[in-house]
Amino acid sequence: LPPVMRLDPWASSGFKDYARLRDQFGLEPFAEDTPGVPDHRLFRRGIVFAHRGWEPFGRALAARAQGADEPAAVMTGLMPSGRMHLGHKLVLDQAIAYQQRGCDVTIAVADLEAAATRDVSLAAAQELARDEYLRNYIALGLAPCRFYFQSQSLAVQRLGHQLSRRVNWSKLEALYGFGGDTSMAHANAPLLQAADILHPQLSEHGGPRPTLVPVGVDQDPHLRLTRDLANGVRLLHARLTKDGRVGVFVKRDDGVEALLAEAGKLAAGLGFTQQKPIPAYKALYLDDAGAADVARLDAALARLDAAHSGFGFVAPAGSYHRLMTGLTGDKMSSSQPDSAIFLSDTPDEARRKVMRAQTTGGQTVDEHREHGGRPDECPVFELFAFHLLDDDDELRRIHDSCRAGEWLCGACKKLAAEQLGEFLAAHQQRAAVADLTPFGV
Ligand code: TRP
Repeated sequence: LPPVMRLDPWASSGFKDYARLRDQFGLEPFAEDTPGVPDHRLFRRGIVFAHRGWEPFGRALAARAQGADEPAAVMTGLMPSGRMHLGHKLVLDQAIAYQQRGCDVTIAVADLEAAATRDVSLAAAQELARDEYLRNYIALGLAPCRFYFQSQSLAVQRLGHQLSRRVNWSKLEALYGFGGDTSMAHANAPLLQAADILHPQLSEHGGPRPTLVPVGVDQDPHLRLTRDLANGVRLLHARLTKDGRVGVFVKRDDGVEALLAEAGKLAAGLGFTQQKPIPAYKALYLDDAGAADVARLDAALARLDAAHSGFGFVAPAGSYHRLMTGLTGDKMSSSQPDSAIFLSDTPDEARRKVMRAQTTGGQTVDEHREHGGRPDECPVFELFAFHLLDDDDELRRIHDSCRAGEWLCGACKKLAAEQLGEFLAAHQQRAAVADLTPFGV
């Protein structure tokens, strides 16, 4: 067996073998029958390549597409430490697509995390969040939504504190490799992030509802922690049993019958009347419910939960996108300016970086014509696939003619540089006049 990898949200590493990553961490691929997968280039092209627990969110999204008013939330965050580059844009493109499909969007500014792990002051982090990130988000098409600073949200800090009761050091060690030299501020960052992700489901922020967190795959440890916490604080939940029945299960020992009775009333209200309570199993079987009903039932139960304990979270889903390859061949990273295209690069700067990029074509024109290039590993092809080309046929033509050795790196870079320059010029005009006031910051 290959050594077990640990994903480190605070280190920038490149990944190559996404299928292995997916299998090793138990991420699920999007399948033909996965509900609610948006028709969006990042999904069609497998750039968003896997998920964890997509179902409740996907069903809500599918129901919305049919005209139902099912709530569905999208949660994301940014750590303001460097400039925003095309890699960061991937999450925003998704958040905006979901917002346009009627999801409510919440954006956390992880200023406390930045101060704890990147040695920037809160004031500097906040300024960067406003004038660099939010301005770009609006220029990309983000409509007004909740946008807040960790350091200014009492709800988030309080929830982080409450959740921390359920997390011990062994868990942080296993998930993040923390050790004796880890500062408490850094150790607290995952708890704050869990609170960021879950607090939109507190009653004062809209109550329990399916939530999606679109992230780069390096953020998965945070999602594993957050999903564990969300499930851990539930009093009762709905799930499909191994033999294919739908059941409601109570997760504590006292008050079982009363909870089952309440769950029965709630299930009847949703139209499930063939009920078999078995208090000894702390279970209520719903014989007229099917697999497709579990997500809706569970969201309703989460609201019942919230009425009892103050908490009732639908476990948030994660979706995972590939990390962009830098133009220099490693990961695209703010700390290596030549590897990244920043949204504030002048069109000329950006064109220069593209023309110098490390492509995967042949060393010479003859060699390229003979063997072809490897577009799937090429940072310039990624510019087209991830950002510049919406038309799948056009993208395929570039891919196939590179592969066949007919389309040369020089011409390809020139086309990418031109399109990127045009995009940046228009984007920067929009960013310059972006109105931040509806975001309240
Ligand atoms: N840790 C994230 C990053 O480094 C930022 C973040 C904070 C975040 N809270 C979040 C991301 C909640 C998603 C959801 O970019």
